[in-house]
Amino acid sequence: MKVGFIGAGKVGTAFGRYLHDCGEAVGGYFDRHPEKVAHAAGATGSAACRNVSEVASRSDVILITTRDDQIADACSGLCREVVLTADHAVGHMSGAHASDILSPARMQGTSVFSLHPLQAFAEEEKALSELPDTFFSLEGTKSQLKSIEALMQRLGNPYFTISAEHKSLYHLSACMLSNYLLTLMDAGLRALQESGIDPRRGFQAMRPLIEGTLANIAGMGTAKALTGPIARGDCGTIAEHIDSLDRNGLSELKTIYTFLGLKTLDLASREILQSAKKIEAVRRLLD
Ligand SMILES: NC(=O)c1ccc[n+]([C@@H]2O[C@H](COP(=O)([O-])OP(=O)(O)OC[C@H]3O[C@@H](n4cnc5c(N)ncnc54)[C@H](OP(=O)(O)O)[C@@H]3O)[C@@H](O)[C@H]2O)c1
Repeated sequence: MKVGFIGAGKVGTAFGRYLHDCGEAVGGYFDRHPEKVAHAAGATGSAACRNVSEVASRSDVILITTRDDQIADACSGLCREVVLTADHAVGHMSGAHASDILSPARMQGTSVFSLHPLQAFAEEEKALSELPDTFFSLEGTKSQLKSIEALMQRLGNPYFTISAEHKSLYHLSACMLSNYLLTLMDAGLRALQESGIDPRRGFQAMRPLIEGTLANIAGMGTAKALTGPIARGDCGTIAEHIDSLDRNGLSELKTIYTFLGLKTLDLASREILQSAKKIEAVRRLLD
């Protein structure tokens, strides 16, 4: 199997280099920027292609690694220039879209798929070093998934398959778990800053707590991993927290604290906090 790329940006280049390092064949690259093509092709021992037809002629699998909002155009452009066959497969690496965005290719009788790496590709070398431990999600035409699954198995990467219908739920989950985690960290560090502690130093101090929580979630799941005043039904402490947010005029942080507090109470009442009286008392404080 030879994989070719349309789009020699961060993901296309890092993933192609990873394939090459793992002994997989890379067919070639095309991008609007010849210098990116030269770099990616040079780093993967593959062809610097002058157009998409050349990528298609040198590859069985064509990965469109443009930005999300460019995938549909890139696929239409490919289908205008190249007669794809059932021997080709066309995929993209976006988490936000399913493979149905590649319908012009499917209409030519080609298998389509999406293969999303659950990793942030901010910088090529760092992304490359993290790729061996990266989890992928795979979605698309069942028959073609077999060859992409075989590729994943050869690479040794963990992956799961997902239906097109559920791709959006999957992607918003990834956004919540990474992007919203940042928002939560920012809010927590702002409260710390209000108490006079530098946020960078504060993060260092809280890091073992954060990593301990992640380890606990990995070991026992979210509901059982919960600790703290809400898990204990400790109304005095929660009332003091809310009072302190009021006294310091931190109304936005109070909104976050109480909203997430109520969600945390729901979580606590699943497994840990069993007293209906305590649950009700905490709910009254947070509501
Ligand atoms: N970056 C991440 O952290 C990450 C993580 C997981 C998955 N992904 C997915 O990976 C895909 C690629 O993202 P990226 O961050 O690697 O993007 P990127 O660095 O912006 O690279 C995309 C490249 O494709 C070029 N391009 C766009 N349309 C083209 C066309 N029709 N023909 C030839 N070249 C074209 C772009 O040129 P111009 O700049 O001139 O448009 C750019 O050089 C996206 O689907 C993204 O969702 C990204």
